[in-house]
Amino acid sequence: MFGSAPWLGSQDYDNPLYGPVNVMEFAAVAKKKLDPLAWDYLDGGSEDEAALRDNRNAFSRLILRPRMLVDVHKIDLSVELFGQKLDYPILLDPAGGKNCFFRDGENTVAKAAANAKALQITNGGIDELIESGKAPVFWQVTTGGQLRNAQTIRSFVKRLEAQGCKAICFTVDIMHVSQRERDIRNGFDRSWCESGLPPRDAQGKMPKAKNPWRVGIYPSRPSPTPTWEALSELCAATKLPVLVKGIMTAEDADRCVKHGASGVVVSNHGARQMDHVGATIEALPEVVKEVGGRIPVLVDGGFRRGTDILKGLALGAKAVCVARPYLYGLAAFGQPGVERVIELLRTELALNMGLAGVPNLAAIDRSLVRWRGETR
Ligand SMILES: Cc1cc2nc3c(=O)[nH]c(=O)nc-3n(C[C@H](O)[C@H](O)[C@H](O)COP(=O)(O)O)c2cc1C
Repeated sequence: MFGSAPWLGSQDYDNPLYGPVNVMEFAAVAKKKLDPLAWDYLDGGSEDEAALRDNRNAFSRLILRPRMLVDVHKIDLSVELFGQKLDYPILLDPAGGKNCFFRDGENTVAKAAANAKALQITNGGIDELIESGKAPVFWQVTTGGQLRNAQTIRSFVKRLEAQGCKAICFTVDIMHVSQRERDIRNGFDRSWCESGLPPRDAQGKMPKAKNPWRVGIYPSRPSPTPTWEALSELCAATKLPVLVKGIMTAEDADRCVKHGASGVVVSNHGARQMDHVGATIEALPEVVKEVGGRIPVLVDGGFRRGTDILKGLALGAKAVCVARPYLYGLAAFGQPGVERVIELLRTELALNMGLAGVPNLAAIDRSLVRWRGETR
C-alpha cells in the first residue's frame, strides 16, 4: 500500500544510487559508465530507429484525465496474472547481453528481481537463476530453437515444468535478426552478448570481432521458422500458460487466442526488430479490442514513467513489461540499481494513481485517457 510502503526505501542522498531521480537519469549514468559499444547495443534500435522514437513519442499524444475527490489515501497496485499474485503490474522483460552491461549481469538481475519481488521473464540459464534468485516466477522465453518438432517441444516443456517455471513466454518477432546499424558500424560481435565485452587494448581499441554484426540477411533462426502450428503444439504440450510476445496487430492477437495462447504481449522488441511498425502503445487498443477479454494483454516498449504505465493500463493492458529501464539500473549500479529503478517506477505509478483518483487497478479504465484531438 502506498503511504506505509516499506519498498519506498531509504533516500540517502550521499549515496550515488539516489542521485538519479528517474529512469532517464539512470540512463545518463549508464551511458557514462558503459563502453560506447555496449551502450549502443543496449539503447539502439534497428535501421532508421523510427519505431524507437515512436515508442517514446506516442506517450505524449496520450493525455491523462484525472478524477478528483476520490479517497486515495491507500493505493493498491496488486494484480493477479495467470494465478500468480503480484504486488505491482510491472514485469521485467527478457534481455540478452546482460553480461555486456555488468559482470554476471544475468544473475545480478535475477537477485534484484527476487529482492524486489518482481516477476522476471528470463532467457538466461534457468538453473542458475532458480538458485540465485527467488522472484515469484521464472519464465523461460524461447525464440524458436526448441520448437523444431513435437518431440523437441515436449522435452523442452518437460524441462521447464520440472524446473518450476510458471509460464512460457514465446517471442515470435525474432525469426530473423534485424539490421542494427549502430552495432554494424561498431563491429559489435554477437558472441559478446554472452561473454561480455573484451577489454580494450592500450590504445583503447577493441579486439577485432570474430563474428561482427553486418549488413545482410543472417540465416533464419531456426530453420524452418515456427508457424502457428508450433504455437498450438506448444500450448497442447504443457499445462503452463503460454504467453506470445511480439504481437502488433488485431489479426495476430486473434490467432494467438485461437491457437491456445494464455496471454499476449504487445511488443515490437523494443524497436530492435522490424522498424516502422509504430509505437506499441498505439497498437495496444486494437489488440485489446480484438482479444475482448478472452486472455490478458500485456505491453512493453518505451515505458519510462509511472504515467506511461498508467496510460498502458488505461488502454487495457493487464501489466506492463520493461527492459531498458532495469538495464540502465544494472549498468549504472548493478543489483541496487535494478532494484532502485523498479522502486522508482512503482512509486511513480502509485503516486500518479493517487493523483488521478484511482486507488486500485480495477478503478483504471479507458476513460482515464484520451488521444490528443480525440473528442469525447
Ligand atoms: C539489450 C536488449 C536485449 C534484448 N533481448 C531480448 C531477448 O533476448 N528476447 C526477447 O524476447 N526480447 C529481448 N529484448 C526486447 C525486450 O524484451 C523488450 O521487448 C523491449 O526491450 C521493451 O522495450 P524497452 O526496452 O523500451 O522497455 C531485448 C531488449 C534489449 C534492450
